[in-house]
Amino acid sequence: MPFATPDSPAPRIVLGVAGGIAAYKAVEVLRRLRDAGYHVAPILTPDATRFVAPLTFSALASEPARVGLYDDPELAIPHTTLGQSADLIVVAPATAHLIARFAAGLADDLLTATLMASASPVLLCPAMHTEMWEQPSVQENLATLRRRGVLVLEPERGHLAGGDEGAGRLAEPSTIVEMARRIVAGYRGALTGRRVLVTAGGTREPIDPVRVITNRSSGRQGYAIAEVATRLGASVTLVTTTDRSLAIDVVRRIEVVDVVTAAEMRDRVLELAPSMDVIVMAAAVADFTVDPAPNKLKKAAGPPELALVATPDILVELVGSRRDGQVIVGFAAESTDVIANAQSKFERKGVDVLVVNDVMTPGAGFESTTNEVRLLLRDHDPVTVSMRSKGDVALEVLTRVVALLPQGDQ
Ligand code: C5P
Repeated sequence: MPFATPDSPAPRIVLGVAGGIAAYKAVEVLRRLRDAGYHVAPILTPDATRFVAPLTFSALASEPARVGLYDDPELAIPHTTLGQSADLIVVAPATAHLIARFAAGLADDLLTATLMASASPVLLCPAMHTEMWEQPSVQENLATLRRRGVLVLEPERGHLAGGDEGAGRLAEPSTIVEMARRIVAGYRGALTGRRVLVTAGGTREPIDPVRVITNRSSGRQGYAIAEVATRLGASVTLVTTTDRSLAIDVVRRIEVVDVVTAAEMRDRVLELAPSMDVIVMAAAVADFTVDPAPNKLKKAAGPPELALVATPDILVELVGSRRDGQVIVGFAAESTDVIANAQSKFERKGVDVLVVNDVMTPGAGFESTTNEVRLLLRDHDPVTVSMRSKGDVALEVLTRVVALLPQGDQ
């Protein structure tokens, strides 16, 4: 319990309250945070005061509730004082407007200015009507914030204001307080303290200085895995053949290693592998390469004979040299006899998880932003993951990986 002692003051939580009807539930969140022993400083947006009175919060909190940037006689620069001293900022409810302002970097009231002036963890607890929650703008703003490390406690389904039903109801105060407790105690996510290596993209095998043999992999699924693993707290290294602009925001927090050919990917992956807890081979590695001609092959000389040679199978090498407890994930892109081919690949490669794509399914596999996969798992029946974004598929894959990791050795 984080009760204060003279040597160890109570962790400080800024409780931000935005202007939605769920603001009344923030009173309960505040009371529970205080009961759990935290020092709580409430900040209401001006619109929140239409739903709940600052006096209610002041009466229950550790210090008076604040609303304006300019109306505090005691704190001359309230946003920096509050932002810098916070161990955690919880915003409950976070409205679509608050989320948009935070994502855009606006600081036009005390709450958004405090968010901007703080390096502490932030937990957003959105609440809004289903139509607003499902707006691409809201989801994109949240994705942006997540990439920057903001934690989001998703709303639940249930009764909404005006008698409606659906997704958008504020998470239960007890859940919000439990999440706050975990964050203050150092919890970041299910992969905290783990090192994850992800490969992405299609390798390019030069034929001559101009031409290459490659495939249609966009790297999106690998980037999504790297991104979601980072969100879950892992330190991630991404070995990729694709353009970094795919993941500008991701790159800031992920170590990126650029490679071109299957041989380069193999060398870098095998070099990095011993220190990794998890390896996800999402890359489409060429199965065949060619000894490249030193100069551009001349059209006039007629079609060249290409002597293709097999590339080393990185996955098989990784599995052969895996250390205890390391979890290895492979991908399979199949177009015929998907289930039988995938099953035999699963057995042949000896991986813990095989993510199987049927590349003939519209909206799945290469170049698509969505995916539909089947997961073959060590010690578990196969699982079908229906069509969804590559980020959501990544979360499904990584959830299975977490379950396979040995616990207690982080
Ligand atoms: O055997 P196949 O190429 O279908 O297997 C696909 C899986 O194996 C992917 O996870 C891919 O990254 C990996 N792979 C590899 N080395 C190769 C070819 C594929 O690790 N040379």
